[in-house]
Amino acid sequence: MSAPATLKVGFLGAGDVSTLHAEAVHECPTAELAGLWNRTRARGIARAEEFGCRFFETPEALVEDPTLDAVFVLTNMETHLQYAELALAAGKHVLVEKPTASTIAEIEAMRTAAEASGKQCMPVHNYIYEPGLTRTRRLIDEGKLGDLVSVYVLYNIHHPEPVAARYPGVIRQILTHHAYILLYLAGPPSAVSAMKATINDGTVPQENLAMATVEMQTGCLAHLCASFASDDHSGDPWTCLIKVIGTKGATRFSYRDWVENKPAVVHSQTYSVYPDTIKQTVRHFLERCVPNGEPPLSSLDDAITCQRIIEACETSVTERRTIDL
Ligand SMILES: NC(=O)c1ccc[n+]([C@@H]2O[C@H](COP(=O)([O-])OP(=O)(O)OC[C@H]3O[C@@H](n4cnc5c(N)ncnc54)[C@H](O)[C@@H]3O)[C@@H](O)[C@H]2O)c1
Repeated sequence: MSAPATLKVGFLGAGDVSTLHAEAVHECPTAELAGLWNRTRARGIARAEEFGCRFFETPEALVEDPTLDAVFVLTNMETHLQYAELALAAGKHVLVEKPTASTIAEIEAMRTAAEASGKQCMPVHNYIYEPGLTRTRRLIDEGKLGDLVSVYVLYNIHHPEPVAARYPGVIRQILTHHAYILLYLAGPPSAVSAMKATINDGTVPQENLAMATVEMQTGCLAHLCASFASDDHSGDPWTCLIKVIGTKGATRFSYRDWVENKPAVVHSQTYSVYPDTIKQTVRHFLERCVPNGEPPLSSLDDAITCQRIIEACETSVTERRTIDL
């Protein structure tokens, strides 16, 4: 059998997360990172050199390049829609970082653009491409865990103030991950109650701690916790832990099961599974969705439900009440 054709990929945005995507594309035997654009030119040129690809002067020049097949939108949340629409209109498949966009209306607009172009537009809902979670999902589907009772998604990873300042608060930045994980494992939610706090040196106003209790349509309950305020280095740490408990069985996934003794960007240690989730996501997109038209494990419709959960968390925090969905 001949080798599949090489897909050419371009990046819009070359911040921290682009290094993980570049590594992921480089490891994908059927794809090649052909070029990138970044708003800050000097950084874009430096990253292009680092990744061994071409630097484009404008996002328009990148999406119009006829040799590119797919575009990864890796800029900040506020600009995802703008760049996804640009790339889809130019006939490119799109992988868009999370949070998919700032509002439900923006994600709906992205879905409309994807439908109009007939191209794939897949959110980077990376955790669920991790084999430990796909296995959990399979066990649930096969009835091996019985009826779901509870789902816990806990995240405690310190992000220093200068890093936290670049992101929205943890409700959007981290609970978005928790929301799509929950949807993937336990289906749609029926109600949300949330609280938030900011525990830092006072220079960053965004919340760096949030907890939510979610009632699911099946009747099971979930607890979501996201914190940039502190690491958990105690025994059996809750660095990033996902626990699913059913009437007939339970599963656990932890970042702490694969640790390298060196820092990784802002993480105090390297949790090998984290970059791996990006690799699994990128391979699913480039090896299954783009060439075969297979759907992603989590779609733009799921991104809309995620955004409903996030906005319900925000309303719950502001109005100090439970929000029905
Ligand atoms: N899936 C994950 O696990 C994961 C992890 C980290 C970040 N992310 C997401 O990836 C995206 C980028 O995050 P990052 O960590 O690389 O952040 P970063 O701050 O390192 O980089 C931000 C990027 O956005 C660009 N940008 C900012 N404002 C812009 C504007 N107005 N117009 C055009 N470009 C603009 C910057 O030039 C840079 O390329 C965010 O959506 C973030 O939520 C996802």
